[in-house]
Amino acid sequence: MKTISLTNYGSNVLRAILSLKVVDADMPKPGNDEVLVKLHAAAVNPSDIAFIQGGYNIVKPLPATPGFEGSGTVVDTADGLRHLIGKKISCFVQNDKGGTWSEYFTVHKDDLIVLDDRMDMDQAACFTVNPFTAYGLVNIALLRESPAIIQNAAGGQVPAFIRTLAREHGIEVINIVRKPATADKLTEEGNKYVLTEQDEKFEEKLKTLAHDLTATTAFDAVGGAGSGTVFNAMPGDSELVVYGGLSGKPMTGIDTMDVIFRDKIISGFNLIDWKNELDENEFLEINEKLQQKFINGEMKTNIRTTARFEDIVKGLKEYIGNMSSGKILIKP
Ligand SMILES: NC(=O)c1ccc[n+]([C@@H]2O[C@H](COP(=O)([O-])OP(=O)(O)OC[C@H]3O[C@@H](n4cnc5c(N)ncnc54)[C@H](OP(=O)(O)O)[C@@H]3O)[C@@H](O)[C@H]2O)c1
Repeated sequence: MKTISLTNYGSNVLRAILSLKVVDADMPKPGNDEVLVKLHAAAVNPSDIAFIQGGYNIVKPLPATPGFEGSGTVVDTADGLRHLIGKKISCFVQNDKGGTWSEYFTVHKDDLIVLDDRMDMDQAACFTVNPFTAYGLVNIALLRESPAIIQNAAGGQVPAFIRTLAREHGIEVINIVRKPATADKLTEEGNKYVLTEQDEKFEEKLKTLAHDLTATTAFDAVGGAGSGTVFNAMPGDSELVVYGGLSGKPMTGIDTMDVIFRDKIISGFNLIDWKNELDENEFLEINEKLQQKFINGEMKTNIRTTARFEDIVKGLKEYIGNMSSGKILIKP
């Protein structure tokens, strides 16, 4: 079978991408509680880019196959899971073995979602991570009874899903982006509150909006100095939920007095931990709700293009060049 192989981690993202090769490999064998999946499509997420740079919390022994998410069909299994053979699945695999950028790969039964037959398999390749992340994050805002939220990296896919889910609950969204072109796109789509980081009066505008709309929850995918800017702009009794580190920089600029005297807090969100805290029925209920939203078109990942294995380098370069233009899928 063909697989994509990473031979060197490289903090220089272009160099890391260039080190990816398509190679022949032995077919993996499913172990206990695992199934063998024939890939339909694999997603490319910021976590995959961080992984090939060696900057993610998972570092596999090299050579390694990248890819944490994908869709496909179960073709073989260890005993006890034969009922899954032939099922279409979406999965999120974060262990130090094989990844989804491979014609075939193995998945533990707890890391896969069996799909409704009506699910589009390209959409299914991006189903297990971002929709659930957005769901978990919006749930935090609901528990806090926040009338409005702030989110940065707002041209990305998680923020797009957050807008959809927030709208459903009547929560206003203040969107922050770094490029004027992304701001224009979001405004054209009908979003009321869109701010560009480069704007001269950005901090002032953000603070005014955050107070006027009582934005007491913020979702931070960027880190760096932007975390401090968002945190300081929020009214008292607010929470900054950090779920991504796109800037690659430590969070700075947090107003100490806000933490001590204004009941403002910072927390982290990680999909796997969130999922592990749910009981099985809760997860099944959310899964059914989200699959239904994909089937009826309420939620949809913006997929810009597909790269075949042999075009992986070109595809990844395109993705990192403009992440707000949508995801790329990888297919054998
Ligand atoms: N904690 C969790 O469990 C969890 C789960 C899922 C996702 N995530 C994280 O969520 C974040 C968003 O993922 P996604 O799939 O929505 O991403 P995506 O669709 O690929 O888009 C990334 C977005 O981030 C923007 N961006 C990139 N670097 C930036 C920077 N330094 N400063 C400001 N904006 C920047 C991009 O804007 P440009 O077009 O300007 O590049 C783009 O709009 C990532 O950090 C990902 O790792 C976390």
